[in-house]
Amino acid sequence: MSENTFGFIFHPILIREHVNKKFPPLGTVLPISVINWACQFFPPQYISEITGITSQDTGESVRGWFVAAPYTPQALHDLPLEKVYSKIVDTINLAESKGAKIMGLGAHIAVVGDAGLTIAERVNIPVTTGNSYTVGMAVDSLIEAATVMHIDIHQATVAIVGATGSIGKASARILADTVGKLILVGRRDDATHEVRELCEGKGAEVIASTDMDAIYEADLLVTVSSAINAIVKPKHLKPGAVILDVARPRDVSAAVAAERDDVLVIEGGMVQVPGINANFNFDFGFPPQMAFACMVETMALAMEGRYENFTLGRDIEPDKVREISAICTRHGFKLAGFRAFEHAVTPEAIHQVRERAIENRKVWSPVLT
Ligand SMILES: NC(=O)c1ccc[n+]([C@@H]2O[C@H](COP(=O)([O-])OP(=O)(O)OC[C@H]3O[C@@H](n4cnc5c(N)ncnc54)[C@H](OP(=O)(O)O)[C@@H]3O)[C@@H](O)[C@H]2O)c1
Repeated sequence: MSENTFGFIFHPILIREHVNKKFPPLGTVLPISVINWACQFFPPQYISEITGITSQDTGESVRGWFVAAPYTPQALHDLPLEKVYSKIVDTINLAESKGAKIMGLGAHIAVVGDAGLTIAERVNIPVTTGNSYTVGMAVDSLIEAATVMHIDIHQATVAIVGATGSIGKASARILADTVGKLILVGRRDDATHEVRELCEGKGAEVIASTDMDAIYEADLLVTVSSAINAIVKPKHLKPGAVILDVARPRDVSAAVAAERDDVLVIEGGMVQVPGINANFNFDFGFPPQMAFACMVETMALAMEGRYENFTLGRDIEPDKVREISAICTRHGFKLAGFRAFEHAVTPEAIHQVRERAIENRKVWSPVLT
């Protein structure tokens, strides 16, 4: 039987740290605008070989390769789209030359243009954004976080920031039959109301807004915009709120961690991979044997031998989310513990957030601009 393989393409996110690692001290001294301009001149990068990820269902391992398109998030959005596609295609071809039979698109590689559709047409191997499993893991994480914060998900008010996007819209559609109230926040009024219409009639009260201040009443938030800079600020959050930040780069500002010890911020989509020898041979900021949900979708499809364009574009059907979630569970992928700002979130920390929230709620009122 031939070996099951995959590739995964990403791009630098923590720009200054990344440049400093390769060319110290340029990451510190160069203006960010120069880095955003200069990155276009770098070729596709081979990063590492991924070994030891082994299905608990079949006992078979998959092999993979990380490759990177060297564009910053700003460059991915500012450079001409054809130039961006061309670099992405060249980078995927590099993974294919290593042996990859399916390709996962990481972070803003899955966001630019039409969310993978054009890229899939231009490369020789199937492509997936990984967004279906990201939605599945986001919903599961939110439910688990609600439980540990003693929030009844069925009564809760849930806000989704970036509700018109691929992950935001599908998450909203799934949560609409579980939660008490859904606040959908988007940039475009008409598009946000279209998502509201898709979510209505499933149980939750649904409102749509283009105003970030609308999130202040949320008990639970999913932040999943493709903004390049953080858009969720300390003033937006109610004491005791849980914020699941799925976005990369993050939507939640570092100031929230510094100033708000009465809210729980967790990262969306961290998944434990099966296989005691699983090794990415590259540090992308997670503990060993932990991966982003979008990476896992690609691995699981390779394990299945399902070499097909699985998730592309911005309309994800809830059934697709259920299908990939079932596949991943069968192979032994599972939601890992909570994590935020590069650290594990301990049960003690969660307890302290709950205690502070009880106190702060007595005097809290939203500061709106
Ligand atoms: N953690 C993980 O495992 C994982 C996996 C996959 C993706 N991601 C991340 O998830 C995020 C969303 O991905 P996606 O594929 O759903 O993207 P998408 O389909 O492009 O949707 C992005 C959403 O963000 C909104 N948006 C863009 N810029 C904004 C700004 N400056 N202010 C407010 N809203 C803004 C968009 O509004 P419009 O509709 O008006 O454009 C849209 O609602 C990205 O950061 C991506 O890197 C994480």
